[in-house]
Amino acid sequence: MADIKIAPSILASDFSRLGQEIRAVVDGGADLIHIDVMDGHFTPNITIGPPVVAALRQHCSVPMDVHLMITNPDDYVEAFANAGADIISFHVEAAQHPHRTISKIKELGCRAGIVLNPGTSQDDIEFLVDAADMVLVMTVNPGFGGQTFVPEMLRKIKLVRAMLGDRDLEVDGGIDDQTAREVIAAGANVLVAGSYVFRSESYADAIERLRG
Ligand code: DX5
Ligand code: ZN
Repeated sequence: MADIKIAPSILASDFSRLGQEIRAVVDGGADLIHIDVMDGHFTPNITIGPPVVAALRQHCSVPMDVHLMITNPDDYVEAFANAGADIISFHVEAAQHPHRTISKIKELGCRAGIVLNPGTSQDDIEFLVDAADMVLVMTVNPGFGGQTFVPEMLRKIKLVRAMLGDRDLEVDGGIDDQTAREVIAAGANVLVAGSYVFRSESYADAIERLRG
């Protein structure tokens, strides 16, 4: 199976020092930086957009894993690709034509991820999964950091792993040293963690504990 990668989510970091925070978690061993983009429509929260991602690019020496929690993601994939995103993931619940959105992300030179909310079945991506580079299984409902892991998602992770072969299966929400063991055993290999990393004394120790 694909190697375990840790993707700290900057949503839980000090937003007044985003550049330094990114450099600190990368120094601590982060494999990717997870950037949560929220538009206040798809999620009950608003975070950052392309100008901030572009400003952070110079501080980030690992791939930028951009998670679009926005309606009509098609309208923004180009702006995020131009801002420096390496991976662009969008919610299948928000896209009018998800198969075309995947193609557009790849044409822009980025890897394409498709995201499933907790209530969305893996059956909904049966005719999308082969075109995608990664599947992101949400283990909380999108909008905020620090929420509790939804254990029912372990069954979905197993089913998605069976659909993905050895491509990346990312999980996102409520991941700590306990749930990390469970999701890895179920088949996840890319772990997003916001509060567990950024609330810890040592970013490096937290990342190591997640990697197990
Ligand atoms: C939630 C975001 C997650 C969140 C994870 O909408 O997509 O990436 O930041 O935060 P924790 O790890 O604190 O649950
Ligand atoms: Zn996220």
